[in-house]
Amino acid sequence: VLNPPPGPSPFDQVKDELDMLADDVRELVDTDHPVLKLAASHFFSLASGKKFRPTIVMLMSQAVERIGEPRDEDVYERQRRLGQITEMIHTASLIHDDVLDEAETRRGSDAVHKLFSNKVAVLAGDFLLARASVLLARLGNVEVVEVMATALDALVTGEVMQAKAQPTDLESFDWYVRKSYFKTASLIACSCKSAALLSGYGQESEEVIAAEKFGYHLGLAFQIVDDLLDFTQSADLLGKPALSDLKNGHATAPILYAAEEYPEMGPLIRRRFKDKGDVQTAHKLLKQSSGLEKTRELALWHASQAVEWLSSFPDTPANQALVRLTTQVITRIK
Ligand code: FPP
Ligand code: FPP
Ligand code: MG
Ligand code: MG
Repeated sequence: VLNPPPGPSPFDQVKDELDMLADDVRELVDTDHPVLKLAASHFFSLASGKKFRPTIVMLMSQAVERIGEPRDEDVYERQRRLGQITEMIHTASLIHDDVLDEAETRRGSDAVHKLFSNKVAVLAGDFLLARASVLLARLGNVEVVEVMATALDALVTGEVMQAKAQPTDLESFDWYVRKSYFKTASLIACSCKSAALLSGYGQESEEVIAAEKFGYHLGLAFQIVDDLLDFTQSADLLGKPALSDLKNGHATAPILYAAEEYPEMGPLIRRRFKDKGDVQTAHKLLKQSSGLEKTRELALWHASQAVEWLSSFPDTPANQALVRLTTQVITRIK
């Protein structure tokens, strides 16, 4: 299923919408406070953000359109807003995440808290989130407000799970998948679901369910690939520190698979790789194991599930673009 026919880049297919997004967001984060403005707009002026989420939202919005009917421009405009809201929430969460993780770089540049201070970063994230909430309310759809508020709840739940993890949680694959859902997949799943709701489909409709399932599997595939790249790619390429998960004490899929083959990984995971040499030992055991291959297979499985859910929608250029985007998620190198 993951061998889509070649076609235009999924990003180019919604290029006009993405261009508008950048301009709009600059306007939306306009504030009298110069530092806040700088901190918040810093992110949107960087070309390096992948704008994955707004791209997915726009393509999903097109994919759920009814064949043979003219586009409802009013609906499409609100879906464009949804894409914007999603990117603003995502960016707010990254600004806060870099404070929590004490990460120095993001999107190939200094993290906001490094450029300014923790205080500015906390405020800038809150500010973006506040503006996103106003826009969300203005969509005038209570179901969508609830779904997107649930995504926010999930983001915070994921961070709290990570911060409060017990040693046994850290070794559990099930816990890892749940945390990955909360941290990453929930925002994609909820925004895909919301795109379908905005098109007028009911909560229980096949379209809304398929949109959410697609987002769920794509989001998990994305996070699992992210966890893989943390081991396989250089800091330069990622625009953020390499091996950062190990250094931050996080055991992700590659390590959990490696632990199935090398039980001596267990104590390292439980003490969050904090003893001297732990990071190196864990990395060495990982390289001897089939952890990286198995992680790739897991990402591929989720990607193929995502593509299967897309078959609920008519075979349109947008649908095909979503298939190509799913393929890109698992073949990406940064
Ligand atoms: C940065 O996002 C990283 C995260 C938010 C943590 C992991 C989450 C993702 C990688 C999930 C996104 C899922 C999909 C399917 C789009 P990013 O790598 O998208 O950062 P960017 O916006 O700076 O490119
Ligand atoms: C990146 O994960 C972080 C997230 C996907 C979510 C962060 C969420 C919060 C900080 C909760 C607050 C939420 C809002 C909306 C303000 P990561 O650290 O694994 O990825 P990284 O390698 O890209 O840093
Ligand atoms: Mg982080
Ligand atoms: Mg984090």
